[in-house]
Order: sequence, then structure tokens, then C-alpha cells
Amino acid sequence: MLTPTGELVAAARAAGSAVPAFNVITIEHAEAIVAGAEAANAPVILQISENAVRFHGGRLAPIAAATRAVAEAARVGVALHLDHVEDAGLIAQAAANGFGSVMVDASTLPYEENVAATAAAVARLHAEGLWVESELGEVGGKDGAHAPGVRTDPGEARAFVDATGVDALAVAVGSSHAMTDRTARLDHALITSLRDAVGVPLVLHGSSGVPDDELTAAVAAGMVKVNIGTALNTAFTAAVRRALTDESLVDPRRYIAPARDAMTATVTHFTTLLSGR
Ligand code: G3H
Ligand code: ZN
Repeated sequence: MLTPTGELVAAARAAGSAVPAFNVITIEHAEAIVAGAEAANAPVILQISENAVRFHGGRLAPIAAATRAVAEAARVGVALHLDHVEDAGLIAQAAANGFGSVMVDASTLPYEENVAATAAAVARLHAEGLWVESELGEVGGKDGAHAPGVRTDPGEARAFVDATGVDALAVAVGSSHAMTDRTARLDHALITSLRDAVGVPLVLHGSSGVPDDELTAAVAAGMVKVNIGTALNTAFTAAVRRALTDESLVDPRRYIAPARDAMTATVTHFTTLLSGR
């Protein structure tokens, strides 16, 4: 069933667990994520990034409608989240397209401009009843925020949350986006310091590159929303490659179906791990 993001995150926080947020690129991603969450019997967040919207010709409505329909039919709680949004025009479309939350990513702007842009987006989205996640500006853009050596400062994080009114904060603690091996090491003491400093749930980005034991420790230290994208695409593409060794194959369902199944198994793994079920 379609569930507000804030509700799922609050429940996970109260339980000392985390809710996984998986990136949706195609309708098969949404189907696999929901099937995987149902198998784990735990809630999940379906997130569509601005990049994915660009892949669909800049049109949010078709992929959002398909994803929403899959969420509504789910036997577990499923939230819809718009991820890494820089375009104010896209933020304006979130509520009407069924999203319960938005990650406002003004992190490429200088700190004061990031605060101003984020606070303005928060005011608009809160008025529409949406939950808002953001990320610190001074650590740079999406990739720079998680580059080796870059870390979020707890004092600055506190000031940023107070100045913007965001409901959750993505922090740089050692993970990196788009890793295809799981070798990242996180700074767990920093996660605990950030949790104690900011007072809002923490979000881990780039979680595909983080090993299971590191993810479990990150949740114990204070991570509440865990974003996973690349791991699904790694599973999808490996399955497609295996299927396409049969050169007589032409029906795309013959390689997309095993790819979807591979993503489902990946989702079940992460969702079971993070939900503690
Ligand atoms: O916002 C999306 C996530 O941070 C996904 O990162 O593709 O490295 O797992 P990932
Ligand atoms: Zn991210």
C-alpha cells in the first residue's frame, strides 16, 4: 500500500532499524523492488531520481504513474520519493504525481545559496504535506559529497538542519555513489556524532558499495534511510548478459524477466538485512 515516506522512516527510527530506498529506472525496477520487499515482509521506498526522469525524456508523469500503481498494489508499505532533485520545476510536480517526499539537492551551490534554495523548497513541500531530505552544500555535488576523505561536520550539519527545516539529512561518512564492488568503509563514530547533533533521521547514499556488516553497523550507529541503486543494476545487467549468450533470443521478455528476478533477490537481501526481520 502507498504509505507516506515520513511514516516509514519514523517507524524504522523507533524500531532501531532502517528503511531501504531503491532507485527506479524502469517499471521492472518498481516491480522487482515491491516483490523483493514482499518476500522480506518489510516496507520499502521507491525512489525516482531527476536523472531517471531525464532518461524518460524529462517527463515525470509516465514513470511516476507506473511506479505509483505498483506501490498501491503492494502487500507491504511502499513510499514514493523523488531523489537528487535540482530542478525546481520537478519539485513543483512532486505532490501532484503522488510522491510522499523529495530529496532537494542544492549541494552544487555555495553554502548560503544551498540553505536559501533548500529552505524555500522545504516551505513549499511542507505546505503540500511532503517530507524533505537534503544534503550539505559545502561538501559539493552528488559525487563530491561522498568522495574519499570528504566528511560531514556535525556542527555544520546541525546549523544546516536548523536553517532549512529539512526532515532528514544525507551525510558524507565514507560511502560513494555508483560503486560496483562492496569495499566502502564507513566512519561509524561520525555517524553516531551526527545522529546526536542533528536530531533528524540520517540518510546513507551510495549504499551499493557498502558491505553487509558495515551497513548493519551504520544502522546501529544511526542511519535510518539507506539508498541503494547500483546494486540493482549490477544484478539486472549480469542476468541480461547471461541470457544473451543465447544468440537466437529476440523477445526482450526472455532477458528482462530473469533480470527482474535478479533485482528481486537483491532487494530481498538488502531489505531483510536493514529491516532486521
Ligand atoms: O540516491 C541514490 C543512492 O545514493 C544510490 O547510490 O547507486 O551507489 O547505491 P548507489
Ligand atoms: Zn544518492
